[in-house]
Amino acid sequence: MLGSGLALAACGPKANSQPAGGPVAPLKSLAPFPIGTCVRANLLEDPSYAALVSEHFSQLTAEWEMKMEYTVLDDGRFRFDRPDAIAAFARSRGMRLFGHTLIWYAQEPPAFVNLDEQRASFARAYDNYITAFVGRYRGQASGWDVINEPIKDDGSGLREHLWSRRLGEIDHMVRAFHVAKAADPDAVLLINDYNLESNPAKLAQYQRLIERLLKAGAPISGIGCQTHCNADLPAGALTRTIEALARFGLKIHVSEMDVSIVRAGGWFVSREEKEAAQTRLYAEAMSAFAALPERQQFAFTVWGVRDPESWLVKENGSDTPLLFDGAGRAKPALRAVEAALRR
Ligand code: XIL
Repeated sequence: MLGSGLALAACGPKANSQPAGGPVAPLKSLAPFPIGTCVRANLLEDPSYAALVSEHFSQLTAEWEMKMEYTVLDDGRFRFDRPDAIAAFARSRGMRLFGHTLIWYAQEPPAFVNLDEQRASFARAYDNYITAFVGRYRGQASGWDVINEPIKDDGSGLREHLWSRRLGEIDHMVRAFHVAKAADPDAVLLINDYNLESNPAKLAQYQRLIERLLKAGAPISGIGCQTHCNADLPAGALTRTIEALARFGLKIHVSEMDVSIVRAGGWFVSREEKEAAQTRLYAEAMSAFAALPERQQFAFTVWGVRDPESWLVKENGSDTPLLFDGAGRAKPALRAVEAALRR
C-alpha cells in the first residue's frame, strides 16, 4: 500500500525461421555485456516469442507493467502479478531484470494525486512505493530507471509534474535515488532520457542536471540514453552522444533503442534507403557502446523484439523499427549489430 508498503504479429508459417543468409548467432553470446529488450507479460506466453527472447537477450525490461499506471491501484494498493511474471521468466532463463521505471512525469496515479497536500504523508507514500518495488526485486534487478525523462522536450529546463510540485524540483530526484539505494544497495541506479542524440539543448540540460544531482549527493551510478531515433539521424550523432555521457565515468545504458523508418523525413528518400540508414544507425550505436570501457557498459537494450510489437506501430502500422521482422527473422540491422559485436 502507498501508506504502507497484443494478436501477435502474424508470425509466418515458419515463425523464427532462419533468415536468408544463414543463421545468426545469439546476440547475447557475442556481447561481453547484457543485451536487453523490453517485454510484455502476455507476449512471454507465446512460445515462438519466448524462444526468440531467450535465444538473443540477457536482460528484460518491462515495457509498461512495472510503471505506476499498472502497479499503483487507485486505492493505493500495489499490483505485482505481471511484474512478478516477467521477473520469473527472466530468472528461469538466467536473465537479468531491469526496473523501469520508478518516477516519471507521465505517471501520476490517482492514489498519489489524491493524497492530501501534506508533504509529510506524500513523502512517506513516495518512499514506501520506491522501497516496496526496489526491495521486492532486490538481488534480481540489475538496476532501475529511478528518474525517467526529467528534461523538457525543448531542452529549456526540467519538467514540472506532481513529483516536482509536491517534493521539490531537485529534491524529489535526490530523495528517490537515496530511497532506492537504501532498498537495494547493489542495484545500479540510473537517470534516463530521450532525444539526446538529436537535440543538443536537451543533451546539455541533461548533463547539467546530472552534475547538479551528483553535487547534491544523489547516488546515481548510471546514465540511460533511450536512443529512440529516426532513420534520418545524421551519422556520428549517436557516437558523440554516447561519448559525451560516458565522460561522467558512470555506467551507460543504451536503454530503449529503436530506429523509426516512418518518422524519418525526406519524402524523396526511398524506403530501401531509409532501411539502409536504419542498419547503419544500429551498427553505429552498438560500435560506440562496445567501445566504452567495460566498467561503463551497463547494457544495450532495444525497445522490442519483432517489428509488429513495437510501440511505434501503434502510431503507424507500416513502421519497422526493430531487429526482427514479424516472423522473427533477422533483419539487416540485426546482422549489422552482430558484425559490430564481432569486430
Ligand atoms: C512506452 C511503451 O513502449 C508503450 O507501450 C506505452 O504505451 C508508453 O510507453 N520512453 C520510455 C518508455 O521511457 O517507457 C516508453 O515506453 C517509450 C518512451
